[in-house]
Amino acid sequence: MDASILWNLNWKFCEGFSESYLYEDAPEAKTVHLPHTVKELPLSCFSHSAAAMISTYTKELEITPQMEERRIFLTFDGVMTYFELFVNGKRAGEHKGGYSRSRFDITSLCHAGKNRVTVRVDSHEREDIPPFGYAIDYLTFGGIYRDVWLDICSHTVITQALIRYDLTEGEALLSPELILDHQGEPIQAVAELSLRDTNGHEIFAYEDTLSVHPGTQSLSLRQEAFANPILWNPDAPYLYTVEITLTAAGNTLDRHQVKTGFRTVDCRHDGLFINGRKWKIMGLNRHQSFPYVGYAMGKRAQETDADILKDFLGVNAVRTSHYMQSEYFLNRCDEIGLLVFSEIPGWGHIGGEEFKKVMLQDVESMITTQYNHPSIFIWSVRINESLDDDELYQKANDLAHRLDSSRPTTGVRYISNSHLLEDVYSLNDFTYSDCDPEGLKLFRGRKEATGLNEPVPFLISEFAGTAFPTKLWDTAYKRTVHARAYARIFSQSNLSPEMLGTFGWCAFDYNTHGDYGSGDKICYHGVMDMFRIPKYAAYLLRSQKDPEETIVMEATTEFSRGDNQGNKLSAPFMILTNCDYVEIEMYGREPVRYYPDSRYIGLAHPPIEVEEEIGVWQDLWQDGQIIGYYKGRPAATKRFLRDSFLDDLEVTADDRSLWGDYVDTTRIVCRVKDSADTTLVYYHGVIQVKTQGNLQIIGPDIIPIHGGYAAFWVKTKPEAFSGKGEAASVTIGMPGAEVEEKEIQMELKPSGWRVG
Ligand code: GAL
Repeated sequence: MDASILWNLNWKFCEGFSESYLYEDAPEAKTVHLPHTVKELPLSCFSHSAAAMISTYTKELEITPQMEERRIFLTFDGVMTYFELFVNGKRAGEHKGGYSRSRFDITSLCHAGKNRVTVRVDSHEREDIPPFGYAIDYLTFGGIYRDVWLDICSHTVITQALIRYDLTEGEALLSPELILDHQGEPIQAVAELSLRDTNGHEIFAYEDTLSVHPGTQSLSLRQEAFANPILWNPDAPYLYTVEITLTAAGNTLDRHQVKTGFRTVDCRHDGLFINGRKWKIMGLNRHQSFPYVGYAMGKRAQETDADILKDFLGVNAVRTSHYMQSEYFLNRCDEIGLLVFSEIPGWGHIGGEEFKKVMLQDVESMITTQYNHPSIFIWSVRINESLDDDELYQKANDLAHRLDSSRPTTGVRYISNSHLLEDVYSLNDFTYSDCDPEGLKLFRGRKEATGLNEPVPFLISEFAGTAFPTKLWDTAYKRTVHARAYARIFSQSNLSPEMLGTFGWCAFDYNTHGDYGSGDKICYHGVMDMFRIPKYAAYLLRSQKDPEETIVMEATTEFSRGDNQGNKLSAPFMILTNCDYVEIEMYGREPVRYYPDSRYIGLAHPPIEVEEEIGVWQDLWQDGQIIGYYKGRPAATKRFLRDSFLDDLEVTADDRSLWGDYVDTTRIVCRVKDSADTTLVYYHGVIQVKTQGNLQIIGPDIIPIHGGYAAFWVKTKPEAFSGKGEAASVTIGMPGAEVEEKEIQMELKPSGWRVG
């Protein structure tokens, strides 16, 4: 490939479509950059069909003399939900499905000089495209919400390289498969494979000759053994770079680079094994949506989500509920060793013939696009929570196995006794609910769920969810019950020999239809809110981290006498910690020591339950404190104030250095706190945000504080970027509060990418 240009800048966008837009823009068309959403939405309380529309994107494509004689491709990483592509008024093709990549050869429609690309996007919930046709519990938004790439290529292009391998003792037997697209006479081409380690050193190379015919074809390089591969493991995620160079008669035709890792995956009834080592899944489901802009968030936000899951929350797996997610997200999962359960689009409903056709295309697209990600340990090839359809699901399962014999398959059901056509039975199980938080039955169990006497590989793909909706500003009691659900279920799952593990529903709150959620178009089922602010359940997960890495101690109380369940003065609450024990001082009494609770013995670090009252009504309410001890020494201290009041606004930015030449984003989190660092969960007030330099806030610039937090993302303005390093800043004030304004300095830099 001569060049691959991130083709995201300066599109023209307007709502609606008319034939005339194939040739000229609507007067109201405005300049936008990708990723883009057809409609920015309020945080909540909007119509769930606000983004359902036809819209038009256009962009000029300049074919320079160097590009003549070359092949020109446009690749769309994700457009919700259906689109047609036109070049100079002629139709280049269409694509169904908002989560799959599509690629178009537009060479024959282009001419020297200025060309016009028009994309007609349909973001209605069309019944011929999964997940639509009935009701679904998430919003899918609309628009060209992932990147577009302009590729300038020779007549022979490697469109995909699937780095297939078998691992034997001390060797990786490579047999890479190339998908080639060739124009012209048949040729003999040489494919040279080069394998580089993380330092960029070539450690293995070989070449093979391929007979290439006109059209699209799959060709495999002969099998070659590469000795002593360093294996990819979740706790040591080693990645190799594979570069394949295709030449003919001494000319380079194409060069294709992918990253991959070598490992084996085995899902047996007694566990999930990566390279023969057993892993118990403690995972979360992730929706890819963000406030205001829905799905339209780029590379950094996708990567940060993976980091939040692995680094902050400390989970070891994520389910991409309920669709294929960004390559940036998956790349990051590979890099940090976060296991991925990758799923096709769908939710509860199987549509007609066209729907099924698109579903099978999605299976194929998911597997071929994501094949090289070592983090993906399983393909989920059923529509989430649909009923049995043996004919369709046999096809989906066979297709998945044909495309990838190295990974197991599964499909997610909520029903018991569903026909198991795949390798693993996955169950969404909401048996345990906040109606009966003391209830002993947490889930159905393998035999009850599968109806099978023989042990089959089994996992829980969702729990909690509707059974524990939780807002950041709910009472501490409610937020504690949510955290306790995670403690009970993960503890039991860890102890259970009959499941590979469990995934909680879900990582982050998300926008949804009126049919679901809290009626305000938000589903508050996350362990974090839509801004990725942690609820107590998040700290239950985080407290499972190794105390040598980080000490965690979070008490699930605001420390108040008049806001507890059942006329209690201080208890009950939990302390989510990886300390060995804690000492609590309240009401000026002697410290009381508490140990991790044996009811959660399956957890590495069981939480502490503080159930009995420490003081009596006549006692004076005084400052209190909790001290966490690790290896006999105080490792964490949390003070609580009798007279707690607003002292400051803490402001943190995820990143201080952003790319200026494409739309880059970072999140800024503001927290109101008292002088003992306690979050003021019930504070009512707002922050006001101003940006200086080439930065812009996403969403409104006056933001209410909820649950003690106000967070937002800022994005760079590539149209105004100088191309060199630049300074920018964000100031955050609290109108009406006696708190100093905060300023965050940022630096904007060129990315080094080719951006157009
Ligand atoms: C499940 C579904 C999820 C989510 C969850 C809420 O049935 O698979 O997408 O809606 O319920 O509890």
